[in-house]
Amino acid sequence: MTAGLDGATWPYPRWIAHRGAGKLAPENTLAAFRLGAGHGYRAFECDVKLSADGVPFLLHDATLERTTSGRGDAGALTWGELSRLDAGSWHSRAYAGEPLASFDAVTAFCLRNGHALNVEIKPVPDDDERTGGVVAEVADRLWRAAPSALLPLLSSFRPAALAAAKRAAPELPRALLLDSLRAGWLDEARALGCVAVVTASALMDAALVEQLHAIGMRALVYTVNDPAEAVRVCSGGVDGVITDAVDRFAPGAELLV
Ligand code: G3P
Ligand code: MG
Repeated sequence: MTAGLDGATWPYPRWIAHRGAGKLAPENTLAAFRLGAGHGYRAFECDVKLSADGVPFLLHDATLERTTSGRGDAGALTWGELSRLDAGSWHSRAYAGEPLASFDAVTAFCLRNGHALNVEIKPVPDDDERTGGVVAEVADRLWRAAPSALLPLLSSFRPAALAAAKRAAPELPRALLLDSLRAGWLDEARALGCVAVVTASALMDAALVEQLHAIGMRALVYTVNDPAEAVRVCSGGVDGVITDAVDRFAPGAELLV
């Protein structure tokens, strides 16, 4: 169901924890989600890609080195191999041994706790269509089993991934991610049936928010960690703020800066 997405209300919380809990815990792991939830966050962003055997899992980079004990291309290993990696030691000893999170596990965590999820479809190179299609199909199946839950918002920088998501699960809401306002971005978002655009925060201002609202789309921004920038985008009327600073910004509270 998409009720609420095209009307006056926007069902998602304004404050969205980036990669689970930003930088306070190993990004895109369940430990990060738990920490973000402990700081009062009820909406989360995460990056999802596919293993070699087509299992959706959480990881930002295309390669394993930065945030796991593995080496090489993230899409070259099966989920069985990936699930044995350490995705916590790189961050700190407290998280040593934390595993990578499957999309299934994160979905279960969100559904059982009533959390909203923004799924950034982040394909490994040359895997846009397969990733968009599989992630949407799996999300649709998992969320359909919990009919009263808020549907996940699927976003991507990759239009081909969003197009595949639209084909696989047209009723799941989509958002186009933008790191620049390139020529034709609005037509692209419209053609993909997006309910929102998510821009780098420096690209967003009150005029752009107004332009989007006038055509029934919502305006979200990433990644806002600076209090003055948070005040600026919130004053401009943005509908969502993705942040690493879950210990600085309390969802629901006024910004005291
Ligand atoms: O989804 C917003 C944000 O996560 C996009 O940038 O590189 O942090 O995934 P990145
Ligand atoms: Mg992301």
